[in-house]
Amino acid sequence: MEKLMISGGRPLQGTVTISGAKNSAIALIPAAILAESEVILDNLPLLSDVAVYSEILEELGANVSWEGNQMRIDPTHIISLPMPNGPVKKLRASYYMMGAMLGRFKEAVIGLPGGCNFEPRPIDQHIKGFEALGATVTNEHGAIHLHAKELKGAKIYLDVVSVGATINIMLAATRAKGSTIIENAAKEPEIIDVATLLNSMGASIKGAGTETIRIEGKSELRGCRHSIIPDRIQAGTYMIAAAATRGNVLIDNVIPKHLEALTAKLIEMGVEIEELDESIRVIGKEKYESIDVKALVYPGFATDLQSPMTSLLTQADGVSVLSDFVYSNRFKHVPELARMGAKIRVEGRSAIIEGHPLNAAKVKATDLRAGAALVIAGLTVSEGITEVTGVEFIDRGYDHLVTNLRELGADVWRQND
Ligand code: EPU
Repeated sequence: MEKLMISGGRPLQGTVTISGAKNSAIALIPAAILAESEVILDNLPLLSDVAVYSEILEELGANVSWEGNQMRIDPTHIISLPMPNGPVKKLRASYYMMGAMLGRFKEAVIGLPGGCNFEPRPIDQHIKGFEALGATVTNEHGAIHLHAKELKGAKIYLDVVSVGATINIMLAATRAKGSTIIENAAKEPEIIDVATLLNSMGASIKGAGTETIRIEGKSELRGCRHSIIPDRIQAGTYMIAAAATRGNVLIDNVIPKHLEALTAKLIEMGVEIEELDESIRVIGKEKYESIDVKALVYPGFATDLQSPMTSLLTQADGVSVLSDFVYSNRFKHVPELARMGAKIRVEGRSAIIEGHPLNAAKVKATDLRAGAALVIAGLTVSEGITEVTGVEFIDRGYDHLVTNLRELGADVWRQND
């Protein structure tokens, strides 16, 4: 079993360069199959989820080559193949294969997604969208079967603001006949990134990044070259780690606007922040004030930074309240942080965090961001070694985590038992 070993207590110092966004990449890769010729993706993060997605596309007959941070996807010879099992099961975002395959072939069979299951994550809004476009959708033995004689544009109102449903409906609608309007759409930067790629492929999508997205369907899309936006969650995680270790870190290759909600909260608790054009400097302080944080849909505070933020708030004086209005029970990191001496209680959607120093312990990451929270917690502890298992979750979302942390002066290593 692989573990991350952390001998903490050292302030992070230096520069870290942020890679392309995971949550964009795993939507852009399936989007490529809507084209009839080669799509080139630059600034690709080197992550296990990305590797799984390239496996999925290869299984369908796409020619995928991946060199450094560039992936070339030639979907010319792709075929419609049912995928009830196999790599689709390893990845939650394999649900994007539903929209992409439906758009390209008017049919798909996709095993229900795996991935980070920190709480039940329904896909009813995705299905509602596909049905509105004219597809028949059934769940047979744990696989979603989709079929449409013809996809026709429709007006779709999302009952829940969902990143996945917004992107998935966009994917299918680019190849539907006529106009589709998605109302109450999610506004995350990753949605704009996917729309930018699809528009470069010849699609007509307007309004991505607002709550109303309009799509004019096209009968054919072509290949193109696209550079993935920086990963705001990875950037935010390093910002929080810099503050938690009282370090001084320049987080480079970021879009500061995407991090505004986090920046505001860090300043409120006493962290010094310098915003530059494409980078942010975080200067930690000895003392922090307790604050209240509400995780909301974008542009609110990101739920994906809620767990890392919990670790930082254990370092503040007094009692902080961190509530998550996106997921009702994303608190699996809390009992693990308690093993490290944290004083946190969960009440409904909120974690109530009493500032208290942490100690080293053996802890387990149960999902990606819970893993990031435990690493940050370990970095704050100066005596003993924190051991984090569940490294495979962390590898899903943090490109070169150990190398980056070591370059910032942390004493972190992987160990195989
Ligand atoms: N929801 C529904 N029905 C649906 C879809 C969503 O009720 O059909 C609910 C969810 O249960 C949740 C809320 O709506 O309470 C928002 O979920 P959303 O669909 O936006 O989440 P997602 O698309 O499945 C993406 C990211 C997550 C991130 C969320 C929220 C990807 C692959 N995943 O998930 O990222 O937490 O948006 O921003 O893009 C992560 O990176 O660690 C991660 C979990």
